[in-house]
Amino acid sequence: MNIPRNEALPERIGNVDELDELLSRPDAATIETLSRIDGDIIVLGVAGKMGPTLARMAKRASELVGAKRRVIGVSRFSNAEQSDALNQHGIDTYQCDLLDEESVQHLPAAPNVIYMAGMKFGSSGNEPLTWAMNTGLPAIVCRKFCRSRIVAFSTGNIYGLTSIQRGGSTEADAPQPVGEYAMSCLGRERMFEYFSSARHIPVILFRLNYACELRYGVLVDIAQRVWRGETVDLAMGRFNTIWQGDANAVALRSLAHAASPPLALNVTGPELMRVRDVAEQFGALMKKSVSFTGVEGETALLSNSSRARQMFGEPQVPVAKLISWVANWVSHDGASLGKPTHFESREGKF
Ligand SMILES: NC(=O)c1ccc[n+]([C@@H]2O[C@H](COP(=O)([O-])OP(=O)(O)OC[C@H]3O[C@@H](n4cnc5c(N)ncnc54)[C@H](OP(=O)(O)O)[C@@H]3O)[C@@H](O)[C@H]2O)c1
Repeated sequence: MNIPRNEALPERIGNVDELDELLSRPDAATIETLSRIDGDIIVLGVAGKMGPTLARMAKRASELVGAKRRVIGVSRFSNAEQSDALNQHGIDTYQCDLLDEESVQHLPAAPNVIYMAGMKFGSSGNEPLTWAMNTGLPAIVCRKFCRSRIVAFSTGNIYGLTSIQRGGSTEADAPQPVGEYAMSCLGRERMFEYFSSARHIPVILFRLNYACELRYGVLVDIAQRVWRGETVDLAMGRFNTIWQGDANAVALRSLAHAASPPLALNVTGPELMRVRDVAEQFGALMKKSVSFTGVEGETALLSNSSRARQMFGEPQVPVAKLISWVANWVSHDGASLGKPTHFESREGKF
């Protein structure tokens, strides 16, 4: 089989079409993995920030190796245009409120599930729905897809804050979630663990820490503050991040490693980024002066991604490249999703 080689990264990204093309471009390893895995792929909660490019990557990789596979996207499609856009890229779409168990029963079966539905923003003040979405929904999904392998998106927030000196929480650390959002996400993991064991469902607990592209992400949050001349808060002084295309690729490749009991994977970049340094880099690249507020804490929300990097290699997009893409995008008035990550929150309120 002819697996295409990885293409070189561009100097800069000029528009949303180029951005989406790059975010959904499968690398050689992803193409190879999807050539080995049988069956359709269903993406639950496809219409968010990551799902459209992940689904498109799965479709592109499958087409490149001539695999006859449906890639299916499920969401409520609060924004109807998302469904049309996915259809144009060959992805079949189903409109479904996943909390409606009867509707879920009518979804097509698929051997491969990427579970991306969740609730974070607006969770403070709407705790019952947060728990229903993050902790209740996995039970509905596991009952329906009990013969599938599942990559269940989770979050590094389940760990809570960790000492910067330690180099980030590892998968062996005991969870210490701060706030109801993080607690409900730990509940999500526990439900997947329970069903994985009770029904022998192979699962990956995909603990992501801040995917970043050019319209959203921690780097975008910092760059926008610098660009607008706003102060940058140092209280959460460190963070991890990963190019969203790399996170998409690892999610798809993880399908081949789903296990019962589940395998937990921290998915983020190798660096423990320092907010002060990153803001100063943006200041230099965008020719802006930078001002700070707050004091850097000794703890931060940080994950150690050694396990995932041993399994899948280093991210294709180094963080220095991502910073230069973001600086160019923000300073040329590139599109923004207007969805700040709130990575500064130390109380776990979102
Ligand atoms: N992006 C990150 O950096 C990051 C970091 C850590 C963890 N994660 C986790 O990774 C997952 C994917 O990330 P994301 O940023 O793409 O999330 P997202 O933007 O919140 O997307 C999730 C999508 O799920 C759909 N959804 C929500 N409730 C639903 C329901 N009841 N029925 C059907 N669909 C529903 C929503 O689309 P509709 O409104 O159209 O239904 C929503 O856009 C999320 O679970 C997130 O918590 C992401």
